[in-house]
Amino acid sequence: MSDQLIIFDTTLRDGEQSPGASMTKDEKLRIARQLERLKVDVIEAGFAAASHGDFEAVKAIADAIRDSTVCSLARANDRDIARAAEALQGAARRRIHTFIATSELHMEKKLRMTREQVLEQAIQAVRFARNLTDDIEFSPEDGYRSDPEFLARVVEAVIREGARTINIPDTVGYAIPELYGQFIKTLRERVPNSDQAIWSVHCHNDLGMAVANSLAGVKIGGARQVECTINGLGERAGNCSLEEVVMAVKTRRDYFGLEVRVDPSQIVPASKMVSQTTGFVIQPNKAVVGANAFAHASGIHQDGVLKARDTYEIMRAEDVGWSANKIVLGKLSGRNAFKQRLQELGVVLESEAEINAAFVRFKDLADRKAEIFDEDIIALVMDESVTQ
Ligand code: KIV
Ligand code: ZN
Repeated sequence: MSDQLIIFDTTLRDGEQSPGASMTKDEKLRIARQLERLKVDVIEAGFAAASHGDFEAVKAIADAIRDSTVCSLARANDRDIARAAEALQGAARRRIHTFIATSELHMEKKLRMTREQVLEQAIQAVRFARNLTDDIEFSPEDGYRSDPEFLARVVEAVIREGARTINIPDTVGYAIPELYGQFIKTLRERVPNSDQAIWSVHCHNDLGMAVANSLAGVKIGGARQVECTINGLGERAGNCSLEEVVMAVKTRRDYFGLEVRVDPSQIVPASKMVSQTTGFVIQPNKAVVGANAFAHASGIHQDGVLKARDTYEIMRAEDVGWSANKIVLGKLSGRNAFKQRLQELGVVLESEAEINAAFVRFKDLADRKAEIFDEDIIALVMDESVTQ
């Protein structure tokens, strides 16, 4: 099995399904260029048949992007698939991603189709798509809540028709990591031609477990593609977050043993761009891309980090695109952090006694003020020189 983990970004398709996150063609193109700089393997650019605007956006991205595969979603029917292929014509590498629901609930209540009809439609869709491109991905929507025996029949059939990626969505974020990982593993074992496809995971975050479920799908299930979005943007509570899954695999390479092509230094620029474009603010304590992800406020932590960064940092802020980590001065800060900040500000205090006196005044101020800025420190030191 390959040791390469394919990163499939769906910010511009599933991410855009987040209420209020709709983007213009130009905004999507700008983000697609950043995703290319980030070196994601596949960019799902949209759903070409959904609207004229989405068609144009997928087409513009397909025409512009050279270093990532560009993909369009399509329902399992000829019209959607033909529209996707048309929008993707200019792509250096193109993928059609077709889907149909396979859970009893979706088939009966939403599609109003029998199992045999769904199976036949999936086969026909992949057969049709196969005439338009070699790179076909198939998703059984609500796959995780589907009957495994029926799901295995569908998957075996679409692989026979030429689907090269099999994506198993946890469409409603119902999965639990161990169970999802086991589900993928058992399914792969049931499908006789499973090794002719790359298996993929697509997890939603309704119970806050999209990243954990995706990683279990990789580790336990043997999936080699993860579908994810920048900042975890997506329908309802969102999708698996790209920055978290990528940094988990990179930071814990000892455990996963996998390579990802993504350039982590482009993660924060991508995160900021998506946040600014959609107006979705990033929570400060969000892993990797939150403003506090590399900020140290407690005196003990600050002292540790100033002596050796790995005492309290498992990743480098600079590696994911921040300019530096942050020592936040406040009432919990110690003398060491205060002294370091004086040096950074170019403030020279002659004696240890002067530093001690300034530190006492700093602590006094910090008791009254939640965060101390550089201007506060300069004012504090200047006050002292005036009173001397
Ligand atoms: O969540 C889902 O099931 C999807 C599919 C269309 C892949 O987004
Ligand atoms: Zn989805």
